[in-house]
Amino acid sequence: QSDDDNSFKGVPIENLTNILQNAPKLSNMEHIMDTNHTFMIKPYKYNVNNPTEPEPNNVRYIDKWDFDHIKMPCSETIEHCTGRDWQILCLEQLLNEVCKIYTPEDRAHFLSDVLLNIITLALKVNEICGQPPPLLKIGSNRAVTMSQLQCASLLSCAFFCLFPRRHEQQPGSEYETYQNPNFNTIFFGSRHGSSPWKLEKLKSILHYFTRITQKMPIGVLSFRRYCLPKSCTPEWGNSSNTLCKIHLTKNKTIEDMHGFLQVDFANKYIGGGVMNHGCVQEEIRFVICPEMLLSLLLCEVMEPQECIFLTGCERFSSYKGYSTTYKWLDNYDDPTPRDEWGRRLCHVVAIDAICFNNPAMQWNGKYVRRELLKAYSAFRVPAGEKKLLEGNVAGIATGNWGCGAFRGDKQLKAIIQLMAASEAERPLIYITYHDRVLVDTFSKLYDYLIQKDARVKDLYKYLAEYSQIETNLDIFDYILTTPMASEKLVTTNKNTTNNTTSDETNI
Ligand code: AR6
Repeated sequence: QSDDDNSFKGVPIENLTNILQNAPKLSNMEHIMDTNHTFMIKPYKYNVNNPTEPEPNNVRYIDKWDFDHIKMPCSETIEHCTGRDWQILCLEQLLNEVCKIYTPEDRAHFLSDVLLNIITLALKVNEICGQPPPLLKIGSNRAVTMSQLQCASLLSCAFFCLFPRRHEQQPGSEYETYQNPNFNTIFFGSRHGSSPWKLEKLKSILHYFTRITQKMPIGVLSFRRYCLPKSCTPEWGNSSNTLCKIHLTKNKTIEDMHGFLQVDFANKYIGGGVMNHGCVQEEIRFVICPEMLLSLLLCEVMEPQECIFLTGCERFSSYKGYSTTYKWLDNYDDPTPRDEWGRRLCHVVAIDAICFNNPAMQWNGKYVRRELLKAYSAFRVPAGEKKLLEGNVAGIATGNWGCGAFRGDKQLKAIIQLMAASEAERPLIYITYHDRVLVDTFSKLYDYLIQKDARVKDLYKYLAEYSQIETNLDIFDYILTTPMASEKLVTTNKNTTNNTTSDETNI
């Protein structure tokens, strides 16, 4: 067994469809401007050789203070509240414990140039944005497209905790079902020293502000909420779809899988603990790509059949470590090319697994179906889009979704994601995150299933059977040692036909 970094099982990655090779064709913005897609910029085409800053859709700010839009700090309707004193010890420690984290030069640069830029971007939010972005609410299929500058301006408002009513999350409050996008929780620290990883996360976010102060990126971003229609729920137990191609690898990370649909192991409140102590896959992704933090401002909590697409977000930092050992490492210059609208060809989809406080529950059919539905809502390509892509549907880069903080079973989640990707007819790139055993066992199972010509419905039946029986076998070994339901049927039929007359042998 080779242990080197490039070891993989299954189809070589080069053989899987990738949006960098086949950039999806986009309609002109003016053709799709409708009530479900808000463009905060005028119709725009990105010129690679001479990019120009997209213009805001409205020259003068047009406010909407209602339940469908972000309540903006620049709105005239804003309640005149008295100022709030936020405790910002974490920020103070980052900046003041000179030499420990920031050099004297970093500190001086931040306090003079970077902070000034954040202030300017926040003060000009009305000019830069021209309108409040829409809220992406439960049950809606809504998208918003904006420039990276507009996103930076909104994040600058969040930096100064300017979004009204978002701190109050108690039952009955207006934003109870939303994250708080304001930075007050990430700034909040302990007098005895804040947790090192929280300081490192803050450092990563501040690095983004440093970068955009040096040079504001010219480009575009989209945030889209998708709700799978009820009529599109697969009948898992009847699906004859064959299994999709897979590529299994252990040493890569999802964010390195350029050109594939990258899965964010999300919280139903997108971003999870990013503004607090959380520091696992989703939080790390959001601090190295801080434009993703805008989704906290936009998105309501996700329902089981919903997911959120983050398109075009740029990466600004590299890192090392994970969780409590997380450390900002260095600047990262994102090489990802842009699409015709100016969005980096970086497609991320946020899906929240169930958090199993009691892991035994996850085998229950109800929860298996919930996780299948969630994964499928993200993986499915609607027919119209498929046609536009001419069959070049990109592979999905995922891994141990729901199996860390949320305590899911890796083998079960591997099967669930294999089923969802197969149903969506897309290849699966499965990153086991240093788990060599999973690469080997999953690939052995996959080869066996292919040899048996297993279908999605066969896996569904295995999961259903397994949840009903008492066994010491894990699910992979159970499948490897138990005939498929369809095989059993053939055997039973054969046994019955043996006792019948010869012209009844057609099974
Ligand atoms: N690339 C590939 N695999 C990874 C990566 C990566 N960059 N990082 C981690 N893994 P976890 P969950 C593997 O715990 O269980 C957050 O707070 C690694 O094996 O982040 O779905 C969210 O906001 C890890 O154990 O996802 C939610 O609240 C496993 O993926 C909650 O965590 C799962 O990563 C979601 O928890």
